Amino acid sequence: TRSYKIAVIPGDGIGNEVMPEGIRALEQAASLFGFTVEQKWHDFAHCDYYLKHGRMMPEDWKDQIGQPDALFFGAVGWPAKVPDHISLWQSLLLFRREYDQYVNLRPVRLMPGVPCPLAGRKPGDIDFWIVRENTEGEYSSVGGTMFPGTDREVVIQETVMTRVGVDRVLRYAFELANSRPHRHLTSATKSNGIAVTMPYWDARVEAMAKHYPDVRWDKYHIDILTAQFVLNPDRFDVVVGSNLFGDILSDLGPACTGTIGIAPSGNINPDRTGPSLFEPVHGSAPDIAGQGIANPVGQIWSAAMMLQHLGEVEAAAAIVTAIERTLAEPALRTRDLKGNADTATCGKAIADAMG
Ligand code: NAD
Ligand code: IPM
Ligand code: MN
Repeated sequence: TRSYKIAVIPGDGIGNEVMPEGIRALEQAASLFGFTVEQKWHDFAHCDYYLKHGRMMPEDWKDQIGQPDALFFGAVGWPAKVPDHISLWQSLLLFRREYDQYVNLRPVRLMPGVPCPLAGRKPGDIDFWIVRENTEGEYSSVGGTMFPGTDREVVIQETVMTRVGVDRVLRYAFELANSRPHRHLTSATKSNGIAVTMPYWDARVEAMAKHYPDVRWDKYHIDILTAQFVLNPDRFDVVVGSNLFGDILSDLGPACTGTIGIAPSGNINPDRTGPSLFEPVHGSAPDIAGQGIANPVGQIWSAAMMLQHLGEVEAAAAIVTAIERTLAEPALRTRDLKGNADTATCGKAIADAMG
């Protein structure tokens, strides 16, 4: 029988509360669709580990993780314990780079029955993918501080765009657009103000577009693009952006469909030279952690994306359908969707709906 090795890393805060629900859906899918999941849980990449060891992960973390078919990740960060830039650069951002997960794929979809904060939108109106560059761009380690602590202090952080790095994420985005009925791609830019890297991004988009004559494409500066997300979300099909722009858009998009609590993501290495990582878009939510009220759908939908990536297409679809059926039921929604259900109630309902 088909079997998959999954590295499980719950992380901090609500990561620990939503992960069991992601696993529940995964195990239900395995038993229904005839494959097995071999889980290896890792008790690092969380802030208590840092407080104990002075680092987020052991030196031999790569050996400990080994060669899984995928990583299933919760959320990391607890700023009251460890500064965010340390906890994240030593965990999630390190995984993305070390495993060359250069695509961050994030769906934005209005689910049936879920109240939309934008007036007059119904399911089907909002259904697009964000393709975020995930290994370079504004998230760079090039830079530093000069004359620290003096009144001449200078702080610099360079944006890095490489031909290989930009082209490979654009190729992925155009391929995705080309595979969808609307064949439409939107590029996020800011080439009016960011006058070196963003014109370069635009030029690479234009060059890549020549290979995809059937894809209609356009570009918006990021400022007006955020307005378009709110005013005309039905306009989008595939939206491609740099690391930072993609990050911002992938909280805004899901918020326009009701909550960031349902949004999943795939940190994908399309070349399969290393494992991909699947995680909700949201973070560790210290403000609600420990109460058992977090929305588990982002984690569960991430399980579906992971199964899709592993080739378990039917199982993936079954999870998404179960999510839709469950969210259509007001009593099964969590508080971020104005419901009363707790994390486990919602998670169990989704697993039951699969059967
Ligand atoms: P956050 O996503 O953790 O929370 C933002 C808001 O959304 C909070 O009010 C929270 O309660 C709510 N929320 C988030 N997920 C929810 C869910 N599943 N159900 C219901 N409500 C939910 O963002 P933040 O507050 O900016 O960050 C908190 C910590 O998480 C920081 O340390 C940050 O760096 C980290 N973070 C990690 C990841 C990740 O691991 N991928 C992503 C984002 C933020
Ligand atoms: C995300 C998160 C991370 C990012 C943070 C926690 C570093 O916001 O996955 O969207 O900016 O990539
Ligand atoms: Mn983010």
